[in-house]
Amino acid sequence: MTDTITLPGLIDVHTHLRVPGGEHKEDFVTGTAAALAGGITQILAMPNTSPPLTLPEVMADTLAAARRDVRCDVGLFAGASPEQIDQLPALAPYAVALKIYLNDTFGKLRVEDVPTLRACFQTWPREKLIAMHAEKQSVAVGIGLAATYERPVHFCHISRREEIELIADAKMRGLPVTCEVTPHHLFLDVRDRERLGMLADMRPVLGTPDDVAALWAHLHDTVDCIATDHAPHTLAEKQSDNPPPGVAGLETSLALMLTAVTENRLTLNRLIELMHTNPRRLYHLPAQPDTHVEVEMRPTTIRNEAMHSKCGWTPFHGRAVAARVKRVVLRGQVVVEDGMVLAQPGSGMVIE
Ligand code: DOR
Ligand code: ZN
Ligand code: ZN
Repeated sequence: MTDTITLPGLIDVHTHLRVPGGEHKEDFVTGTAAALAGGITQILAMPNTSPPLTLPEVMADTLAAARRDVRCDVGLFAGASPEQIDQLPALAPYAVALKIYLNDTFGKLRVEDVPTLRACFQTWPREKLIAMHAEKQSVAVGIGLAATYERPVHFCHISRREEIELIADAKMRGLPVTCEVTPHHLFLDVRDRERLGMLADMRPVLGTPDDVAALWAHLHDTVDCIATDHAPHTLAEKQSDNPPPGVAGLETSLALMLTAVTENRLTLNRLIELMHTNPRRLYHLPAQPDTHVEVEMRPTTIRNEAMHSKCGWTPFHGRAVAARVKRVVLRGQVVVEDGMVLAQPGSGMVIE
């Protein structure tokens, strides 16, 4: 007898769906299939597309494409850029939240000047969250802005001991900061780069074993969400002379986290807080009625061949996990059954 457990529809607040401009890596149809196959029914898509989501016209076109194509529920981030900073109030109605990139990563979106940061905090609507790609001392910049403008800041993919400890200190002082960590920063470390090469390259880069230990230790208090940072690139791109950073994650996140539950590294209740309750509360996401995920607790091996993501590979290929998604029900419809995604493009809802 294998155990079956039932979870609420999970939420990923950090996904790259690559529309517009990167549809050879992923698109709304394939990315939302990957989400559902991984037990995720609601996702927030990042704005570092080509062109980026920094202009109302681009946002409107992207939302129209989403309405046509998505198979699970999707909201969009708007992006901050110095050149288009006056557009923020016009962008806000289309977006669930604002994303600011303080450090180098894939794409050209970057904010490195104080006037642009001030404009973000002064003109972005207070009821919508500001999320940051901030590493090392940039985390201190984000905490300073949260304190100065007395408004919430969410830190994406925190990966180092120094960062999580700084956020723990800020929270202890009552500052309105929250953070997410990714499964790849919890289950891989620098040593995996020998085996995986550029398939283990992402931003932030993999941490040391000590960084990883700090993330696990803070999973029970400081960390608010698990987020995938699903960042698909083709195998050819990853094996090229100029490989882009990023790895897929939508289809492996839940199985990895449930494996940690079987190893008593976190409780099932804590997993639900990190992958459903907190993401929904932080981003004020709508409820999904009659929605749940059924998971079989039995040994399985993660395989590239089983991926629905267009990129077709995962850094966890060959890894043994303790769970597999059996069925997903979204608003009363069976949308996944035994690895088959049944949801039609356009059946997902767009969150505004
Ligand atoms: O590794 C990453 N890839 N980190 C990011 O911040 C962006 C992402 C991407 O878009 O490929
Ligand atoms: Zn990032
Ligand atoms: Zn990202």
